[in-house]
Amino acid sequence: MANAHSIPDLKNQVRDFWDADPCGTRYLEGPEDFQAHARARYALEPHIPEFARFSSARGLRVLEVGVGMGADYLEWLKAGALASGVDLSAASLERARRRCELAGFRPDLRLADAERLPFGNNTFDVVYSYGVMHHSPDTPQCFREAWRVLKPGGEARIMVYHHPSLTGAMLWLRYGLSQGKSLRRAVYDHLESPGTKTYTLAEVRSMMAGFENIALRQVFSPGDLLLNRPSARFQSPAYRLVWRLYPRRLAGMLGGGWGLFLLISGRKPAVPAPYALTECSSHQRCKT
Ligand SMILES: C[S@@+](CC[C@H](N)C(=O)[O-])C[C@H]1O[C@@H](n2cnc3c(N)ncnc32)[C@H](O)[C@@H]1O
Repeated sequence: MANAHSIPDLKNQVRDFWDADPCGTRYLEGPEDFQAHARARYALEPHIPEFARFSSARGLRVLEVGVGMGADYLEWLKAGALASGVDLSAASLERARRRCELAGFRPDLRLADAERLPFGNNTFDVVYSYGVMHHSPDTPQCFREAWRVLKPGGEARIMVYHHPSLTGAMLWLRYGLSQGKSLRRAVYDHLESPGTKTYTLAEVRSMMAGFENIALRQVFSPGDLLLNRPSARFQSPAYRLVWRLYPRRLAGMLGGGWGLFLLISGRKPAVPAPYALTECSSHQRCKT
């Protein structure tokens, strides 16, 4: 498989995908019913506030990379953080901006690429990114950028997709098995934007090489347990039956080791050494 970041058009495809369908749109109950989106989000993913630690951010400079429709970004503002946010998708940013304005805030949101952040070195106390960097063609570069813009002693809190996962296994059963694709290739081609990558714990540790106090935690995504509202392509009666009959309790007993979400935190050292990041040898497989 070619290196994802060598496919010239891939980033445009990623941007077009999220412009056409900003993340979480299926949970809006009206064009601007952002509260419905937030209710669904935090009910389905109750680990988010604990992981992000919004409430400890008062007065801190926070950067959110990949704000999407801005549910978490608004939480940073409500908590009193000096929060900036970026996203590659103008349509997503537009909704995030509107959401903040309706809530009475003036957001600092910018159209920018996680691989080339428009901020100086050592700027932020916290860099937060939830479900974003695996969509960008050069994911290790996103980690390097997070490290660069963090102040010494600052903390990165990042969620990327984990390999293996129940979501990956289901996509493999649906698309991989008949088309001779690996589990990862099934995710790469069929989960959300084109080129979505998944990472083992060892690969994530490699991408976090410049950080210290690294903590990793795997959790099930709503999709792993089919708790989510099916997206447009899974609306047929056959899929509805799968959603109804899915053995959630049994799947849950596998434990978070088969969860899609990998919650990562780590500190930039107070006296940082040069970032000794291991180069990735393929689109997702980092040498360790
Ligand atoms: C799955 S959504 C997550 C959005 C939000 N963090 C959330 O949890 O709802 C992925 C987001 O990442 C953004 N994204 C993908 N690649 C990016 C890049 N290179 N730079 C900035 N944003 C990017 C997409 O535009 C999209 O809004």
